Amino acid sequence: MNRIRIAIQKSGRLSERSLDLLQSCGLRFARSKDKLYWFGQDFPVDLLLVRDDDIPRMLLDGICDLGIVGQNIAQEVVLERDNGNGLDELRRLDFGQCRLSIAIPEQSSIKTITDLNGCRVATSYPALTRSLLSVNGVDADMVKFSGSVEIAPGLGTAEAISDLVSTGTTLRANHLVELEVLFNSTAALYGLPRGLSGEKEDLLNLLLARLDGVLQAAESKYVMLHAPRDAIEEITRLLPGAENPSLMNLEGDEDRVALHAVCREALFWEHLETLKQAGASAILVLPVEKMLA
Ligand code: PRP
Ligand code: ZN
Repeated sequence: MNRIRIAIQKSGRLSERSLDLLQSCGLRFARSKDKLYWFGQDFPVDLLLVRDDDIPRMLLDGICDLGIVGQNIAQEVVLERDNGNGLDELRRLDFGQCRLSIAIPEQSSIKTITDLNGCRVATSYPALTRSLLSVNGVDADMVKFSGSVEIAPGLGTAEAISDLVSTGTTLRANHLVELEVLFNSTAALYGLPRGLSGEKEDLLNLLLARLDGVLQAAESKYVMLHAPRDAIEEITRLLPGAENPSLMNLEGDEDRVALHAVCREALFWEHLETLKQAGASAILVLPVEKMLA
């Protein structure tokens, strides 16, 4: 069967962005609300909607060809299997940023992670937590929770937790404080190291090229401004990640030109303010939708 199957999270932090990203790559799916399988229209790429924690295992078992999941989950499964056949991180994505942190009750006597020696740590990521703690010379007992880890200290089943933190709201609501960040995670597209073969490989390469275009376009901006002729060089230098700009004459103005450039790095208000100080005016910043190098 020469169709590619991509597994994404069914509902949760990564679901919407994962689907958006694939749609930006030109994929369309025949959706069905309750079905977990969305058939790809126009393009032989189908979607599987599953629990994010199941995605790495589904990849390793050959149930899907690609998966979008947090690096923390991928890492956990690889360590847990311990068979050396990891997952291949094909592309790091620009969403799903979070951190795996050790957190303790506000009133805890634990002050540093070394105090965790011999303690119980509740987590959904026991393999990853154990390995990151042991790098720091800490040997703690892992208590595996598949959800609601934050209630463990209150229940008296653990002295600390190791869980994902994004805004920190969940910790605060449960009177827990972050002690140490163990791992920074973001969403990524995974495949298997052995890759795909035949038509599927061609399809994957096409998809990756589109994905690169989308990821690049997301940060890129098209900038238009008016610049004094003698400040063109400086203004170009101030544009983050811009290559050769296009220059156009301004009718009736000998001293100034219109300058257009694509900035491939994030452009902040501070950049615009420095551009203005350098003599730029009429600065317009437009989003870039697609890009193909
Ligand atoms: C994580 C984690 C917390 C929450 C933290 O869950 O387990 O519950 O996010 O986010 P906050 O710091 O913004 O409050 P996740 O989104 O991975 O959901 P899941 O456990 O259902 O996969
Ligand atoms: Zn999950």
